Amino acid sequence: MKKLLTVFSLCLLPFTASVEAAGGHGIELKPAENNLRDQDSLQRGAILFSNYCMACHSVKYMRYNRIARDIGWTDDEIVAKMAYGQNKVVDNVETRMLDGVAMQVLGTNPPDLSLMARLKGTDYIYTFLTEYYQDEKGKWDNHVLKGTSMPNVLEGIQRHAEPEEYAQAARDISNFLEYAGEPAKIQRLDLGWKVVAFLLVLLLLTYLLKKEYWRDIKH
Ligand code: HEC
Repeated sequence: MKKLLTVFSLCLLPFTASVEAAGGHGIELKPAENNLRDQDSLQRGAILFSNYCMACHSVKYMRYNRIARDIGWTDDEIVAKMAYGQNKVVDNVETRMLDGVAMQVLGTNPPDLSLMARLKGTDYIYTFLTEYYQDEKGKWDNHVLKGTSMPNVLEGIQRHAEPEEYAQAARDISNFLEYAGEPAKIQRLDLGWKVVAFLLVLLLLTYLLKKEYWRDIKH
């Protein structure tokens, strides 16, 4: 029994370690409250991502046609709305930044965001996007990633839209990036419900069958 307990507590070790590793960004993360099943949000997120992020970032493990299929666009729609006619539907979603420019202008290369939501979490992305602030001298910084070389790209929306619209924009982008991190999750969520519904029907049928079999047997 003692041995079993030791083994069990050893199994828990990696969890405690990862909780500590995740707690390194100074402020409490805000919940993104995004919803992968909200197709409108994913579509808005894809357009916002194209408009505000692809100048620097790619999601290179995704192709346009896969995104179109998953979030409810035709091939023509995604080429028009997300690629602005500049890419083919079979292309990977690459950044519009030319090679070498990021290093010169920003001093670093913006990371590919395909797996960022898996790596850091959707709440992290949401909080990171909405926690830019200006110090007394007017210099921009970020509460989550101090001294980041990424500018406050949503500043225009932050200034000109209602706070709720601004939060929604950040939520839609986070939603889109969570989807990109694990595209099959949407189908899995759908499949889960179907499986549960199927099992319930099966339960009903087997129950009726059992009643039928035992009907004439006295017990
Ligand atoms: C002008 C170029 C530029 C644009 C536009 C841009 N980013 Fe970035 N982004 C960067 C750079 C540079 C980094 C690396 C930051 C660093 O390490 O300080 C970065 C890093 C990130 C990170 C990782 C942060 C971390 O903790 O390492 C995320 C997430 C991110 N960007 C999301 C976005 C999203 C979402 C958008 C669109 C709304 C966007 N970025 C638009 C340049 C950009």
